[in-house]
Amino acid sequence: METRTLEEIKKDCEQCEKCELCKTRTNIVFGVGNANAKLMFIGEAPGQKEDESGIPFVGAAGKLLDKYLDAVGIPRDDVYIANILKCRPPKNRDPLPAEEDMCIGYLREQVLAIRPKVIVCLGRISAMRIIKPDFKITAEHGKWFDKNGYSVCAVYHPAALLRDPRKKDEMLADMMAIKERIDNEIN
Ligand code: URA
Repeated sequence: METRTLEEIKKDCEQCEKCELCKTRTNIVFGVGNANAKLMFIGEAPGQKEDESGIPFVGAAGKLLDKYLDAVGIPRDDVYIANILKCRPPKNRDPLPAEEDMCIGYLREQVLAIRPKVIVCLGRISAMRIIKPDFKITAEHGKWFDKNGYSVCAVYHPAALLRDPRKKDEMLADMMAIKERIDNEIN
């Protein structure tokens, strides 16, 4: 696949009408952060605040993600954050497989443009798409997988931590391991 710049991919995405979500979006939520990031986070799909602002993870879940980044000493400006879907599903329902199929090419191109060392899936939906379809987030969060030469793991989605704060210790441990991986650049 020809490698395009993030700007080129974004322009394409802004015109996208491949699925019905283009009809209800306010903005596409392409992704933000460092184009040379070693660490890339991949969430599920934009929520209301993200749809309004065009920026991923700016709502309540995003604020919690910021706290974990802060706690382990990873500046948000050093990472790149994107989602599987670039447009918000109505009422924040789960992405449909067909929507993921239409949208995943943009994400693949983003990964090729950035070439991060480490990819972290935020939540089950992202992990099922990126790591393996039968990914079990409770049993397999924090485990490392090799995907086409990238070190990939999944952590709980911050929104899941808001619903169940008992998972927060595990999240902190996973985030600390991610920081260590980045620092040591083990691939
Ligand atoms: N949840 C996601 O998965 N992505 C966002 O951008 C916001 C909330």
